[in-house]
Amino acid sequence: MPARILDGLASAARVQAQVAAAVDARRAAGRPQPGLAMVVLGDEAGSQAYLRSKRAACAAAGIASFDVELPAATPQRALEELVAQLNADPRVHGIIVQLPLPAGLDEERVLAAISLEKDVDGFHPVNIGRLAMKGRQPLFVPCTPAGCLALLEDAGATFRGARAVVLGRSNIVGLPAALLLLQRDATVTVCHSRSADLPAICRTADILIAAVGRPEMVKADWVKPGAYVIDVGVNLAPGGGERLVGDVAFDEVKEVAGAITPVPGGVGSLTVAMLLRNTLRAAELADAAAQGA
Ligand code: GUN
Repeated sequence: MPARILDGLASAARVQAQVAAAVDARRAAGRPQPGLAMVVLGDEAGSQAYLRSKRAACAAAGIASFDVELPAATPQRALEELVAQLNADPRVHGIIVQLPLPAGLDEERVLAAISLEKDVDGFHPVNIGRLAMKGRQPLFVPCTPAGCLALLEDAGATFRGARAVVLGRSNIVGLPAALLLLQRDATVTVCHSRSADLPAICRTADILIAAVGRPEMVKADWVKPGAYVIDVGVNLAPGGGERLVGDVAFDEVKEVAGAITPVPGGVGSLTVAMLLRNTLRAAELADAAAQGA
């Protein structure tokens, strides 16, 4: 039986509607409008596309956007000064700096400079550290991994005791996705470019998250019948043209998996929805801090 196709657009629309309703309620109660600052360096096409979709989603949810576009040659010091300004700006509740940064900039220092309370990407080392530790909770969870988990939850996946395989160990997706699965008591294997016999490891997975950036790498015989397959990849299809494909060979894998996300229309829209949710949370944390002050 072909897999259920998990509708990322529908899940994202539900989250966005919840955020929009909560923003309306805040504003009706006289609380400040949530604000999100996005810093983009250079004019890489993927970053520009993300900026546009994030801006539109903020507008639809009633969240103010404070976007800063800088040349790729921006010095480290100027970038850190900008982050300090945004940290101090009370209209800005969340700050994201689009990654990867242009060559020559120190990502670790920039991410650590973002105020913990405004770190809506969840990439600050303290937030990631808390995510990795038993019994600790980060203030914010990275958006794409949170979107993967939301899709699995909406699809009714069981985490406790499930075998989960994450393909890819990036700081943005693979690693935090693995930590989130572990937090939910899955038995987690993280695979990467040096892993031996990827197909055999993937075939053990009740839940498979593919985040490696290799077009259609995961084939039907890599997938356990009935598995949940979450495809984070967004790649240009081999052979030229503008068609986008994921890391999973969708047409063949959908004949084996129990549930699968398409590309586009899967995880991507959830990333933006989770960013809006995190920004709302940041505004709520600022309210609580102001009341406690
Ligand atoms: N680059 C790719 N995905 C992301 C993301 O979620 N946040 C940031 N800051 N950069 C990214």
